Amino acid sequence: MRHLVRLEQLSKSYQDAGREHRVLHAIDWAFPQGKFTCLFGRSGSGKSTLLNLISGIDRPTGGRVWIQQDGREVDLTGLTDRQRTLFRRRHIGIVFQFFNLIPTLTVLENVALPVELAGRGEVGRRRAQELLARVGLGDRLHTYPDRLSGGEQQRVAIARALVHDPLLVLADEPTGNLDEGTGDAVLALLLELTRDAGKTLIMATHAREIARHADQVLHLEHGRLVAEG
Ligand SMILES: Nc1ncnc2c1ncn2[C@@H]1O[C@H](COP(=O)(O)OP(=O)(O)OP(=O)(O)O)[C@@H](O)[C@H]1O
Ligand SMILES: [Mg+2]
Repeated sequence: MRHLVRLEQLSKSYQDAGREHRVLHAIDWAFPQGKFTCLFGRSGSGKSTLLNLISGIDRPTGGRVWIQQDGREVDLTGLTDRQRTLFRRRHIGIVFQFFNLIPTLTVLENVALPVELAGRGEVGRRRAQELLARVGLGDRLHTYPDRLSGGEQQRVAIARALVHDPLLVLADEPTGNLDEGTGDAVLALLLELTRDAGKTLIMATHAREIARHADQVLHLEHGRLVAEG
């Protein structure tokens, strides 16, 4: 099976009161293209750390993150900070637990922002409107995020993560702050717009029931990835 993301001896440590705290230990793993990988692990096991390395928000202490783009593998870890930011803006979408919307921008402006930053404002506003209609918020374009429910805010965040048509979508506990029914609806929408549309989705979660929707279930234990089943 083709993979989209490949981790090679990926390690991350933090200095903690003068001691080395090793969070990820030389992980080798390949994430299949167009599939949904669900990542479990107890609190503090390093799920967010791993997603932040794959997105290039953070840098590893050792090893590499490779991402397939136009038929070749790009070494994300070999890029400069600026190059990684540009790569992320073009190819990666991220959904967070606490939505991370900008309170002073409208719903439409929040969703269009990633494309505006890439200098394609016109396209961004059109794509943003289409996506907001698809997530059921076509009549809330000019509302501010604090007027929306948690589930609605997360739908805006999903639209924002997809507005630049990324190869890869990373989600860090996207339903962690929602009640069960709202979380189910947000998950269904996220799967429809990512995996079902051929995109690769990697999601960290504590919600066991999400595993049954996943193509691959992983556990982060003692700094290593272990496949379930
Ligand atoms: N900037 C940092 N400096 C020092 N230690 C850090 C830093 N960021 C994370 N850690 C440590 O790395 C470990 C993994 O943290 P991480 O946030 O990745 O866990 P997690 O699996 O996402 O947990 P949760 O399920 O609670 O979100 C923790 O022990 C945490 O304290
Ligand atoms: Mg986390």
